[in-house]
Amino acid sequence: MYNDRVIRFENVRKNYGEVIAVKNLNLSVGKGICFGFLGPNGAGKTTTIKMLTGLLIPTSGKVFINGIDIQEKPEEAKKILGFIPDKPFIYDKLTGKEFLNLMLDIYEVSRQKAEPFRKELLGIFLLSGWQDELVENYSHGMKQKLVITGALIHNPKIIVVDEPMVGLDPHGHKVVKALFKTFCEKGNTIFMSTHTLGVAQELCHKISIIEKGKIIATGTVKELGSQARSDSDKLESIFLKLTEAVE
Ligand SMILES: Nc1ncnc2c1ncn2[C@@H]1O[C@H](COP(=O)(O)OP(=O)(O)OP(=O)(O)O)[C@@H](O)[C@H]1O
Ligand SMILES: [Mg+2]
Repeated sequence: MYNDRVIRFENVRKNYGEVIAVKNLNLSVGKGICFGFLGPNGAGKTTTIKMLTGLLIPTSGKVFINGIDIQEKPEEAKKILGFIPDKPFIYDKLTGKEFLNLMLDIYEVSRQKAEPFRKELLGIFLLSGWQDELVENYSHGMKQKLVITGALIHNPKIIVVDEPMVGLDPHGHKVVKALFKTFCEKGNTIFMSTHTLGVAQELCHKISIIEKGKIIATGTVKELGSQARSDSDKLESIFLKLTEAVE
């Protein structure tokens, strides 16, 4: 019944003590869609993403990945996920190559099989010459590029991304946009939270805006524009109009 819905939140709620970070979230994302999850600071985006990746247990409600309940079968669900967190952690004492090998081992993908893709990703991120260096010698942006490579290398069907563009230079932006576009064109799905609205406008087929833990609008940029009665077709103006209306 839900086969075309690869991501599904059913009445999901998350409380941190008194704070209700996410209120009754109902949301689904179809195959091949780049989905943008936008909202002001503190709106509940990272909390939602952590529940989607199984890092946080909802106070109530359920989250399904490809029809699999992430709480019931976390390992099965996580196998098809790649995750790019907002504050990535990589062991500083690993080299870039060792980090990528670790990712492949975790996902039980043969290093040999992944080799052409690994080469391709490191090449487009200009990291080929750095793979034998310790991660502690990488710049912030280079670490981010390595984390993105690590999330894609096992060929996941879905990637969940919390702020992909932070710290990336213009070339990195261009590369990530192209990578994400190709990823979806192959029938894969992206769930992405970002404050970089230009990127969301360019990439996302569908967007939800969350404000104070509640979804206030969902649709294409055009649909959001009509809902906001915006004169501009720029996502930035539409977003500001919709979120200001909630104040
Ligand atoms: N571990 C925690 N304990 C208590 N409250 C938390 C915790 N993590 C988040 N919150 C609260 O939950 C709400 C949602 O936070 P969340 O980090 O999900 O927002 P966000 O949309 O990702 O914001 P940003 O754009 O700043 O990244 C905020 O009110 C925040 O203060
Ligand atoms: Mg966040």
